[in-house]
Amino acid sequence: MSQVVLEKIVKSYGDVDVVHGIDLTVASKEFVVLVGPSGCGKSTTLRMIAGLEEISGGKLYIGDKVVNDVAPKDRDVAMVFQNYALYPHLNVYENIAFGLRIRKVDKEEIKRTVAEVAEILSLTPLLERKPADLSGGQRQRVAMGRAIVRHPEVFLFDEPLSNLDAQLRTQMRAEIKRLHKRLGVTSVYVTHDQVEAMTLADRIVVMSQGRIEQVGTPMELFMNPANRFVAGFIGSPPMNQLKAVIVDSKDGPAAQLSETVQIPLPAAEGMGAAIGQSVIIGIRPEDVLLEANESLPTVPLEINLIEPLGSEALIHAVVADEPFVIKTDTHGDIDHLNHITQFYVNVDRVKVFDEKSGLALYRPDQKRG
Ligand SMILES: Nc1ncnc2c1ncn2[C@@H]1O[C@H](COP(=O)(O)OP(=O)(O)OP(=O)(O)O)[C@@H](O)[C@H]1O
Ligand SMILES: [Mg+2]
Repeated sequence: MSQVVLEKIVKSYGDVDVVHGIDLTVASKEFVVLVGPSGCGKSTTLRMIAGLEEISGGKLYIGDKVVNDVAPKDRDVAMVFQNYALYPHLNVYENIAFGLRIRKVDKEEIKRTVAEVAEILSLTPLLERKPADLSGGQRQRVAMGRAIVRHPEVFLFDEPLSNLDAQLRTQMRAEIKRLHKRLGVTSVYVTHDQVEAMTLADRIVVMSQGRIEQVGTPMELFMNPANRFVAGFIGSPPMNQLKAVIVDSKDGPAAQLSETVQIPLPAAEGMGAAIGQSVIIGIRPEDVLLEANESLPTVPLEINLIEPLGSEALIHAVVADEPFVIKTDTHGDIDHLNHITQFYVNVDRVKVFDEKSGLALYRPDQKRG
């Protein structure tokens, strides 16, 4: 298998840059997910790797070869798109075999390969059917089959699940993960869905406006977002962000949220904070307690909406004039949540960002100067 290396990759249309010099190494056999809001440059980046889009600047390596000027068909990559682009007049067998026929692979060899791939993807009973007679999930599997039979060095996926309903998406997500475990092919996967990114990725690349905001394992990004953008993108719902000022307290640096509310900072977060600094405090919806707890700081809230999800509920509230979401267990009843007027902060999990730059004060992956 091959690694994929992007070195200062730029894409411009005329004099508009849409990808601004991206550096990224996808290790051999790694599953990397590019995630970010619409228009941030995910597909453009993927299409440059596939060779479907010309690279305006920088170097792209597949394996140890620079492939900027190598034609898509010679790059040994296989791409799966959102609209599966199956041939409607060919049955499942012929759709999967198509690429092999083009490359004049031996007939018996094609038969064997298609049978094997159909088995992996549970398509064996459907080989005679036309795409029109398949469900969305089955079509998606045929599209994957077409990519797999080629035994490529690299798989590229562009939102392959977004045409499927929620249940099927969860199911196919698990299948893609199993498939990757089994085949171990280097994969780059694009989605705007952070849950998909969290569940599939070895490492996630969070992009915004043609730049990389952070690269890390799902848990690294969840536990230590590098900046407010990542904090507001990863997690569902994402991290709450409240304005505060750093003050000195008997327990070291604390965040003053309002006249009456002060939250002590975890030691590591506090080290990077300066007294008087304007900051944004990040509190995950899961990191609050509703049962009285004397050892933790108390924050008053005003509830404006409760969304029951079954075992859990989301409480939409206002804290210090800013929106705040809490995720809590319901224990089978949401009525009691209506009476809540305050919560307790799990102090150890609080994050701090500089208000001006938006950068996290504590960055375990960066050496302090
Ligand atoms: N041919 C083009 N000419 C000019 N700008 C383009 C062209 N193609 C794409 N862009 C711009 O490049 C940017 C990145 O587009 P891209 O398709 O990579 O976004 P994306 O992250 O895949 O978004 P989505 O989640 O909506 O698919 C967008 O702002 C888009 O408008
Ligand atoms: Mg796209």
